[in-house]
Amino acid sequence: MENAKLMIEKIDMQKIPKHVAIIMDGNGRWAKRKGLPRIAGHWAGAEALRDIVSTCSKLNIQALSVFAFSSENWKRPAQEVNSIMNLLLYYLKKEVDTLHKNNIKIMMSGDWHELPYRIVAQIKKSIRQTQNNSGLILNIVLNYGARREIILACKKMCRDVLEGKLNIEEIDQFAFEEFLYTRDLPDPDLLIRPSGELRISNFLLWQIAYTELWFTEVYWPDFKSEDLLQAVYDYQKRERRYGGLKK
Ligand code: IPE
Ligand code: IPE
Ligand code: MG
Repeated sequence: MENAKLMIEKIDMQKIPKHVAIIMDGNGRWAKRKGLPRIAGHWAGAEALRDIVSTCSKLNIQALSVFAFSSENWKRPAQEVNSIMNLLLYYLKKEVDTLHKNNIKIMMSGDWHELPYRIVAQIKKSIRQTQNNSGLILNIVLNYGARREIILACKKMCRDVLEGKLNIEEIDQFAFEEFLYTRDLPDPDLLIRPSGELRISNFLLWQIAYTELWFTEVYWPDFKSEDLLQAVYDYQKRERRYGGLKK
C-alpha cells in the first residue's frame, strides 16, 4: 500500500463519493490475534475512526456513516455490551470539541434514544453543539438494524395515512425515504466492509440499492487513511449504470 500523500494525488477530486458508509468490523479478531481481550479491539477501533474522519473531511466527502453497534449486537455477553457503551460515552465526550472545531456535524441513526440515559444525554449534547457546522456529516449508526428501520418507517407512514396526512396514492420511493433515519442524506455511493466478511449484516438495506461495495481483509483497528483512499480510488474506476447502459 502506498502512503497517503502519494495516494491522495491519484484521487480525482471531481469524482468524490458524496456519502461513504463503513461497517467497522473486526475489532474482536484484531484483539484475539494480539492475545488481548475483545474490548481492547473496540478501543483500538475507536482510535482508528479519528484518522478516517479527518481524511473524509480533507476529501470534501459530504457524509460518513459508521456502523458502531447493531440491534443484533445485544446478543453478545452483557460485559462486552457494557464496555462498548462506556467506550462510546468516553469518546463522544472526549472528541466532540475537536469535531466541532473541525466544522464536523454529528448525526445519529438508529434507536439510540433507547440507550442508557447518560449516553442519550451526551448524544443530544453533541448533536446540539455541532448542529450548525457545515463540514462533513459524521453519521454514527448506533443500536441500528435496517429491517427494524424499514418496519418503523412503515408504521409511521401508516399512522400518517390513518390521520389523513398522507394519501396512499402519493406513496412512492421518495415519500417512503422521508421516514428513514437517513432522509437528509444522499444514498451511500461507497460501502466499505473491513475484516474479510462479505456480507451486509443488516446495515442500510434500503439505502444501498445502487451503492458500490468494497471489501478488505484488514481488521477495522488496522484500517488506515491509505485503505480509505484505495477504496475511493477503486470506486472512481467503477462504472455505475443504475440498470441503464454504458455511457
Ligand atoms: C465490530 O467488531 C464492532 C461491533 C460489532 C460492536 P466485532 O466485535 O464484531 O469484531 P469481530 O467481528 O468479532 O472480529
Ligand atoms: C456488524 O458487524 C455490526 C457492526 C460492525 C457494528 P457484526 O460483527 O455484528 O456482524 P456479523 O455478526 O459478523 O454479521
Ligand atoms: Mg464482527
